[in-house]
Amino acid sequence: MDDLYPLILAAGKGVRMRSDIPKVLHPLLGKPMLCYVIEAVKALRPSRIYIVVNGQSSLRSEELGNYPLEFIIQTEPLGTGHAVLQARPLLQDREGVLMVINGDSPLITTRTLRGLLRSHRQSGAIATTLTAVLDDPTGYGRIIRGSDNKIEASVEEKEATPSQRKNKEVNAGFYCFNIPHIFPYLAKIEKSPHQKEYYLPSVFSILRKEGEEVNSFPASSPQEVLGINNRYQLAQVERLMREEFLKSLMMKGVTIIDPSSTYIDSTVKVRKDTIIHPQVVLQGATRIGSRCQVHSFCRVSDSWLDGDVVILSNTVIESSTIKRGARIGPFARLRPECLIGPEAKIGNFVEVKKSVVGRGTKVGHLTYLGDAIIGKKVNIGAGTITCNYDGKKKWQTIIEDEVFIGSNTEIIAPLTIRKGAYIGAGATVTKDVPPHSLAISRDKQVNIKNWVLRNRRGKK
Ligand code: UD1
Ligand code: CA
Repeated sequence: MDDLYPLILAAGKGVRMRSDIPKVLHPLLGKPMLCYVIEAVKALRPSRIYIVVNGQSSLRSEELGNYPLEFIIQTEPLGTGHAVLQARPLLQDREGVLMVINGDSPLITTRTLRGLLRSHRQSGAIATTLTAVLDDPTGYGRIIRGSDNKIEASVEEKEATPSQRKNKEVNAGFYCFNIPHIFPYLAKIEKSPHQKEYYLPSVFSILRKEGEEVNSFPASSPQEVLGINNRYQLAQVERLMREEFLKSLMMKGVTIIDPSSTYIDSTVKVRKDTIIHPQVVLQGATRIGSRCQVHSFCRVSDSWLDGDVVILSNTVIESSTIKRGARIGPFARLRPECLIGPEAKIGNFVEVKKSVVGRGTKVGHLTYLGDAIIGKKVNIGAGTITCNYDGKKKWQTIIEDEVFIGSNTEIIAPLTIRKGAYIGAGATVTKDVPPHSLAISRDKQVNIKNWVLRNRRGKK
């Protein structure tokens, strides 16, 4: 639509968040709050989206999706009315609809924005505002209607009289204005005596005084206009979003045993017949295939799991790939850049970092593998450690197919253990091992007969 100019307000200080980062960049289900607003607006297909930001904010378009965005700087957060006026130099020669959107209300839907726009166009009014009736309107601007039921004003809570505060119809923070005609009216907004800010909704009473009509459109649900001003509201909105998102996964065939204790970012994809047990956290770019099981108390971030993978309890997986049928945990830790092959097993108290583990290889217990490339059908005994760090540099260990590593083995990298070799338990391996050979490195055992008895007697 060529004549639609969406303007997202995102330059507020966010004082009530008590944060060093801009409010609109606080994440919800793993994505900045502003992304959800942009997504809702995008679907209206404007040729670009304008965003009012403060000069210092670190908003970057890469984080916000690849839609054409244009940033407008509001150097001082002097209020929402002032924020919209920052777009005047850019848009005053255009003709069309300026849709103003609070950047801190991420539950807004495209459907409602479309309804707002349609109602605005049909009404012929110079301004239309989205309204909602809230059980608890605390903190919102209250809509004041005249005897003809037309909007006369919207008063901010701080400025409202006790009887106005009882009004549950609120100004939702989404507006359509005709441009260029609205700009002279916006310029007439005066600073509020209370907060010393230029309030955008003050334009309604100005318009009424000038004989203009203010149209309104009701939001389809009270929830979708919830604004986030503090961290409590951030958590409330996130809970609502999470409920919706988990429901959508369940509808696609994912079993979530206890949605109230399952935390899945909206960026995560899970395929059908996978079972997610209680107290699981799935984050970032994680992709989980079909028929997987993720047991309780696991956290998986930015990782790809093929189908039929089982992650047993208390496992942490970061930025890794796990192939079909592998079994990880309980109590395993995969640090970034691991590739765990099909049917491989990584057992309890095993830490793996930047390593490849081949098909069917078993790493059962109490092991550290770092910077290692391990072939197929290898058996790594309990207590094996790749000593990959010499205090200055990291070195690589290569273990070829079908190697057997006995328990409590230290492998001093860099070295290669060739195909089919066998390392006796308790070895400290310092050099390459040829194929199919036995490497053994331990002191010969000495048994001293009756030593204990002799020593005890001696003590007495
Ligand atoms: C605002 C409305 C209120 C409405 C509510 C709905 C005003 C004065 N009040 O109140 O009527 O019920 O939203 O949620 O508009 N911003 C700027 N520059 C500024 C100030 C704010 O860009 O100088 C941005 C903020 O980043 C935020 C949005 O505008 O995204 C709304 O500002 P906020 O301070 O949260 O307004 P509310 O007090 O919630
Ligand atoms: Ca707000």
